[in-house]
Amino acid sequence: MTNSLATHDSATRWQSFTSQDAISLAATQRILAAATEAIAKYGSFLIVLAGGSTPKSVYALLAKEQADWANWHVYHNDDRCLPLDDAERNSKMARDTWLSKVAIPESQIHDIPAELGNVAGAKSYAETLKGLRRFDLVVLGLGEDGHTASLFPDQMIDNSADAVPVYNAPKPPADRITISAKRLNNTHEVMFLVTGAGKQEAVDKWRSGRSIPATLIKPDSGVDVYCFGVKLA
Ligand code: 6PG
Repeated sequence: MTNSLATHDSATRWQSFTSQDAISLAATQRILAAATEAIAKYGSFLIVLAGGSTPKSVYALLAKEQADWANWHVYHNDDRCLPLDDAERNSKMARDTWLSKVAIPESQIHDIPAELGNVAGAKSYAETLKGLRRFDLVVLGLGEDGHTASLFPDQMIDNSADAVPVYNAPKPPADRITISAKRLNNTHEVMFLVTGAGKQEAVDKWRSGRSIPATLIKPDSGVDVYCFGVKLA
């Protein structure tokens, strides 16, 4: 059961959920609906996944669903420059939790080659993204400092490229690769998943109009922020 929309403007639509199950179910249902809409329109669904721990419950639910997986194309917002099979890799989390359990063709799962290092990996992923149409859905998390993807406070990101290297990230590991804010904004829809009291300060800053990296994400259609365990005062 969800509360009413706490605030609603064309840019940011906040939804507060009363349980982890409720937010996970709502996010899963919206992702499946977005896929149906995109496949009906384009014959394909281009989704960009969030890393970190918050989306795991959603990916676990998706692993149990029936969907037109053959037309899903999966990308990642960012990844950490660690070995391919490192437990801390965002791509490994998504594969272990969901992607290895459904029939999305391997050729349509586009991991960021972060094992190559942040410069070479970003260059390679920019090639992967080259010429790709607008994303259909970008799923994002929110860091306690207001970061999203690997767009961190006080770090300039080169928006001239689709995928860029990150150095000195405050959230280990220091070296990462992220899709640029500009390319993330080239999407039909954005879903932020925000859970836990640890995100309260970042949410308060966001809702008070302060600039945090998450506010760099502002596609024409605005963003939807699914919240649980944070107060939307
Ligand atoms: C990462 C993620 C990062 C994450 C936030 C929230 O590589 O860590 O891309 O942007 O979404 O840090 O992480 P949690 O969901 O673990 O709180």
